Amino acid sequence: MKLWAGRLGEADQKTNDFNSSVSFDSRMVKQDIEGSLAHAAMLAACGIIEKSQADSIAEGLSSILADIESGELIIDPAAEDIHTFVEGELTARIGDAGKRLHTARSRNDQVALDLRLYLRDESRALRAKLLELLEVLADRALENADAVMPGYTHLQRAQPVTFGHHLLCYAEMLLRDCERLGDCEKRMNLSPLGAGALAGTTYPIDREMTARMLGMDGVMPNSMDAVSDRDFAIEFTSALSVLMVHLSRLSEEIILWCSWEFKFIELDDRFSTGSSIMPQKKNPDIAELIRGKAGRIFGDLQTLLCVMKGLPLAYNKDMQEDKQAVFDALDTVNMCITPLVPMLATMKINKENLRAAAAKGFINATDGADYLVKKGVPFRDAYKIMGTLVAMCIERGETLETLPLQDYREQSGLFEEDVFEAIRLEHILNARTSYGGPAPSLVREQAAKLIEKIRS
Ligand code: ARG
Repeated sequence: MKLWAGRLGEADQKTNDFNSSVSFDSRMVKQDIEGSLAHAAMLAACGIIEKSQADSIAEGLSSILADIESGELIIDPAAEDIHTFVEGELTARIGDAGKRLHTARSRNDQVALDLRLYLRDESRALRAKLLELLEVLADRALENADAVMPGYTHLQRAQPVTFGHHLLCYAEMLLRDCERLGDCEKRMNLSPLGAGALAGTTYPIDREMTARMLGMDGVMPNSMDAVSDRDFAIEFTSALSVLMVHLSRLSEEIILWCSWEFKFIELDDRFSTGSSIMPQKKNPDIAELIRGKAGRIFGDLQTLLCVMKGLPLAYNKDMQEDKQAVFDALDTVNMCITPLVPMLATMKINKENLRAAAAKGFINATDGADYLVKKGVPFRDAYKIMGTLVAMCIERGETLETLPLQDYREQSGLFEEDVFEAIRLEHILNARTSYGGPAPSLVREQAAKLIEKIRS
């Protein structure tokens, strides 16, 4: 029977299916029941229902949750939503007291509460998962703190960095993603319960009490805002979108690094795939899927923004569309991180190829210019001299390391034998000790700090 039996007759079956959200909101059942337990306890504490009725509601709700978790109770797919299902089941189990649970409450504040609690809990779990990813990145960075590789700009070899430094760059991004999620949680973890349908209630309720019982940081001050905004879901999905931008860029580099053109890394067979026709293939499908799935999450964010942008205050049924979008974003992110952690932990790093790539591309040309600057040449002039030398090398098939000193001296008499030490990649890296730079000692220090931060 419908909640609104009395006012309306039976709805059309197909319309019922269209109207129902139980197929996707039943994942919030635990939070729905937690919210109802707190609400019932508060109603009794405020003298709105009898203590015995609240006890019976609590017992009924706990048994419903236990039976759903054990698989004994199947959520009815014909129910309108999870809130309706739980309330109906409660009344079937305990009778009259069950009908009192919804006193001083509306599904509008109930659904806002459930979604806030659910996303809060999931966001915390996601942060823990991100820390695992961060730890792998930091471990691998520590291990490769002195693995010289070319750093790129415009995907052209630019200046020497290390593989460890490169990985720590992603660790920093993910650290900010964790912080962003934590920030969202602060605004999410406020209780809308007690806002009723939109205009509060005349019952002497205690909103602070339910918020406290649910581990929330406080109550939302405006009853209309409490039921009518989904900015917390938008904010959460946008934090997930930024996170996916980062994971997608990392994936893109993994894909490049696996190619024969780079061969900087090799993925473990368990995280690679073959081809149905080309026997030689070993493909980085997992990384490609992560890169591809990023688009889904950006789409989910668009969905949420579009659902909300034209709604008059307060609740509108359009808002039921928030759940599939935000859940899809959450599930997809979780799905991406799961294989990424062991894939990064087991990838083999080809230090020889990294070093060989760094030896090409004149990535020490800036340091050659700096050598002259230290001898008093203005940087622009030094830049031009090095440019001439690079052009000369390219023409003759030489590198800055193999070009004879005599050719250097023809461009500037300030060049001495020690220029070769000044442009040696390991020397350059060890000297790049400005804070945040790629010197192996700094990378080790940063990685160790990160590991300490993660474990604390
Ligand atoms: N299933 C609904 C949703 O997800 C619950 C709230 C329904 N409220 C209402 N007044 N129809 O938004």
